[in-house]
Amino acid sequence: MSKYIVSDPRKVTTKRFGEMKARGERISMLTSYDYTMASIVDQAGIDAILVGDSAANVMAGYNTTLPITLDQMIYHASSVARAVKRALVLVDMPFGTYQGNADLALECAVRIMKESGADALKLEGGIEIAESVKKILSAGIPICAHLGLTPQSINKFGGYTVRAKDEEEAEKLLSDAKILDELGCFAIVLEKIPAALASKVTQNVKAATIGIGAGNATDGQVLVVNDMLSMDCADFKKPRFVRTYANLGDIITDAVGNYIQDVKGNSFPNADESY
Ligand code: KIV
Repeated sequence: MSKYIVSDPRKVTTKRFGEMKARGERISMLTSYDYTMASIVDQAGIDAILVGDSAANVMAGYNTTLPITLDQMIYHASSVARAVKRALVLVDMPFGTYQGNADLALECAVRIMKESGADALKLEGGIEIAESVKKILSAGIPICAHLGLTPQSINKFGGYTVRAKDEEEAEKLLSDAKILDELGCFAIVLEKIPAALASKVTQNVKAATIGIGAGNATDGQVLVVNDMLSMDCADFKKPRFVRTYANLGDIITDAVGNYIQDVKGNSFPNADESY
């Protein structure tokens, strides 16, 4: 059992996100992509697990999130959903499954929900994806929006710098947040934007805001689990919004080094480890 305080042991629902926002209880969210990690993260007491399309980077080694497919996201999401008992399971719709075609968006959303057992979906973008958001919501599928640095638009942005620093982009982001909120999104991820803007959005929407690199005035926080455990590939450049909670990369490297030494020195297996 978790050593952390779990205020309510019941399964976390989208409705509970609203209740947590209303009473000022911060929402904790981490990514996971597989059964084992999701099981550990859930048992520790996290409120929500995001099966992010960051799986394309973290699990598959791509430079961007664009290549991951619908089938691959369903595979990751179903692995996570099988492990989780309490946390809300939120799944990213991959690039190309919802932009510019609301019918396709609904078809892909229904596939993820049916085949993975997820609780809700996350879509990147503002007014441009409003038709897809409406159509998916009309099927009773809860949606978390994602604004600011939206990695599926990396080729438009040309880099991973902070978004909405200028007035025009900040105004559009606030207007997008209000539109998505009015449509009925239960949450909005705000990625890599100024803390003051994230605070303003949080105060102006009913949806729970979940920040990543957006300061501490949002209703909750999310991090990529491999980043906060320092379990990334060698060329990973840690953004300043990532806090390291454990150095699992070093621990694993040491363990593997010790194993290699024992195998080479023929001290593994010993008599007790043999039949
Ligand atoms: O895919 C992902 O992990 C995400 C988070 C960074 C919010 O969208």
